[in-house]
Amino acid sequence: MKLTVLMDNHTEIDVYHLGEPAVSYWLEADGKRFLFDTGYSDAFLKNAKAMGIDLTTADAILLSHGHNDHTGGLPDLLALPFSKKPRLIAHPHALLPKQWNGMDIGSPLSMKELQEKAVLEFAEAPLWLTDHLVFLGEIPHTVDFEPAYAIGETIIDGQTVPDIINDDTALAYVTDAGIYIITGCSHAGICNIIQYAKAVTGKTKVLGLLGGLHLMEENERSQKTVDFLAKEQISALYPCHCTAFPVRAALHAVSPIQEVAVGMTLEWE
Ligand SMILES: [Fe+2]
Ligand SMILES: [Fe+2]
Repeated sequence: MKLTVLMDNHTEIDVYHLGEPAVSYWLEADGKRFLFDTGYSDAFLKNAKAMGIDLTTADAILLSHGHNDHTGGLPDLLALPFSKKPRLIAHPHALLPKQWNGMDIGSPLSMKELQEKAVLEFAEAPLWLTDHLVFLGEIPHTVDFEPAYAIGETIIDGQTVPDIINDDTALAYVTDAGIYIITGCSHAGICNIIQYAKAVTGKTKVLGLLGGLHLMEENERSQKTVDFLAKEQISALYPCHCTAFPVRAALHAVSPIQEVAVGMTLEWE
């Protein structure tokens, strides 16, 4: 599986791609291509073009969750000349309205607008995209220090309710030796995600992990997460996006991590 970082908060010296606090990855696995998240603006499209990646060749667009630093690029993406309506795969709650402090923080396109431009596929259960790549769907909260929490509100069945972001999901790529995990923000909790990825794939070894961990400061939860990750002994560890520097530093002290930058590619087999 080959992963290319189309958008991240971080850019690399002497490599002139655009950065923004957002996520977009291009994945090539088992002869198929997937776009995982669409950044905050059209900047990931410019990066993809500069990297020679034609996003209209995607077999599907996958959303880690509905926040606008992951769905903000949908209008410009779906304005590209796709030969047919692309598949758009997400948890059933990902495209519902999301608000925080009176601001819209969900998808800039409504479900109705998206239905005109894409073939929507909602996956709550794990969905295998290829023989080795799985969209995990809703992540159960099985780890005691990672309960669900709310960010703002959403509207479910006409009711405004706290948004516990149960649309937050991740991908797992399975090899004989173990699994690689790719996250958006890990609102569901990275340890919950790891436990579920193991349960879904039947593998026990996590070989690699890339993505946001949504640990914005050092606290009890981040310390327990660092301890958990250290025990996993993940050799290819790439926390980025919404993982604060003090947390990355604490993790690096016990389990060496690597930097992520726009334009970076990884090949995981
Ligand atoms: Fe988020
Ligand atoms: Fe995010």
